[in-house]
Amino acid sequence: MITPGSERPHLLDDSRRFASGFPDFLQGDPYRDFLRKPDGSRDFAEYALTATLPDDDEHPVALAAMLPFRMRRREDGTCAPLPDDGWDGVVRWNTYDRLYGYTPDTLAALAVAIHPELRGHNLAATMVSAMRDRARELGFTSLVVPLRPPLKAQEPRIPMASYIARTRPDGLPADPWMRVHARLGGQTVGIAPAAMVVTARLDRWREWTELPFDTAGPVEVPGALSLVQVNPDEDYAVYVEPNVWIRHVLSTSEGNS
Ligand SMILES: CC(C)(COP(=O)(O)OP(=O)(O)OC[C@H]1O[C@@H](n2cnc3c(N)ncnc32)[C@H](O)[C@@H]1OP(=O)(O)O)[C@@H](O)C(=O)NCCC(=O)NCCS
Repeated sequence: MITPGSERPHLLDDSRRFASGFPDFLQGDPYRDFLRKPDGSRDFAEYALTATLPDDDEHPVALAAMLPFRMRRREDGTCAPLPDDGWDGVVRWNTYDRLYGYTPDTLAALAVAIHPELRGHNLAATMVSAMRDRARELGFTSLVVPLRPPLKAQEPRIPMASYIARTRPDGLPADPWMRVHARLGGQTVGIAPAAMVVTARLDRWREWTELPFDTAGPVEVPGALSLVQVNPDEDYAVYVEPNVWIRHVLSTSEGNS
């Protein structure tokens, strides 16, 4: 059963515990701070979904987290491009809209996580489908996804454009996570070249990765989709993560981007 986080908040709290699978260094993305209240609790429960299995309604097995924003428009009224800073841009636009009172019209998927013991059982598609339904139910005209393809981490030196251009003989994307979206009608509409940026002192990077971070220049880091740039002289390293923009059109009235 799929339930909005606002209806059963305890399931949402429980599901955050298994929302693992993201590399530790992503905690260093400063935009994460905007998703927490000063007391550490989180908001936006109505834009989150949890899933339970039919035989156990008390233990969540999947989580989807979303955030609304208002699509930016050009002077002629057509949609402006989605932000180059992908995930960060969604949080930035959402924060701006709340500060200045803009009504959101678009829902963005920030993360999907499946309980580690249940991965590989096609639950991802169920959650993407549920996010589409929830967006429609809340009156949004589209669901956009700054998609983080986790398997890209196996090839951090390949440009994202080359990675996403790969297709299977049936025409679907070679990347499995993109494939889930494509099957459900999600269209790849671009790359977010700087979807998340993590800049931190080298000691922090050593804690996150257990790597030495003692040589200047680009370095491969497990879980990173691109190379991390290390600057020992100035005692910092910076990671700029590319993601892929996917767009699910939910109503016929918005095809003007
Ligand atoms: C990414 C994630 C959501 C996928 O969920 P899942 O339940 O494991 O995926 P599914 O069983 O629905 O499989 C979806 C597709 O991925 C493929 N797949 C799943 N795990 C895979 C792996 N380790 N390697 C290659 N392909 C894989 C499946 O074969 C399927 O593709 P196909 O049906 O076209 O052949 C899940 O692994 C997860 O929670 N990861 C941690 C959080 C994360 O990285 N989320 C994504 C970014 S927001």
